[in-house]
Amino acid sequence: MNRKHVEGLLSRALVKAKGEFMISSIHQAIELLGADAAQIYAGECVTEAETKDHLNWSLLEHVSKHGSHELKKALAEPVSKVITQEAHHLFHTQGWTRELWIKQLGFPAALPPPEEVKAVETQIGAGRAEQQRDRYT
Ligand SMILES: [Fe+2]
Repeated sequence: MNRKHVEGLLSRALVKAKGEFMISSIHQAIELLGADAAQIYAGECVTEAETKDHLNWSLLEHVSKHGSHELKKALAEPVSKVITQEAHHLFHTQGWTRELWIKQLGFPAALPPPEEVKAVETQIGAGRAEQQRDRYT
């Protein structure tokens, strides 16, 4: 077993522990804070996970464009199929969490968020949706 293999095993163990912590802390939030606040906390956890997910797929996209011929061949199709879905996950999760927070703070919320209504799938679209959120309250 070489150093890279060990690092890979340790990295997977850390990611697993982080995911398990998120799940257990969401259960704790339900007990300690109640359903409404726990929903916001869960939204924050999912947004954090989707941020990492989006980063990972963006890195795979970079490798699929700039890597070796073998890597381009192996990654091009799966990346092209998944990268838009991952962007959708991230921007929609951010929108839901933002609007749940705004509602919790006592302001008019845009629920469902404009990212959802407008089926946003790009960073630019997410920015526009957030700028126009008042139209959806
Ligand atoms: Fe995702």
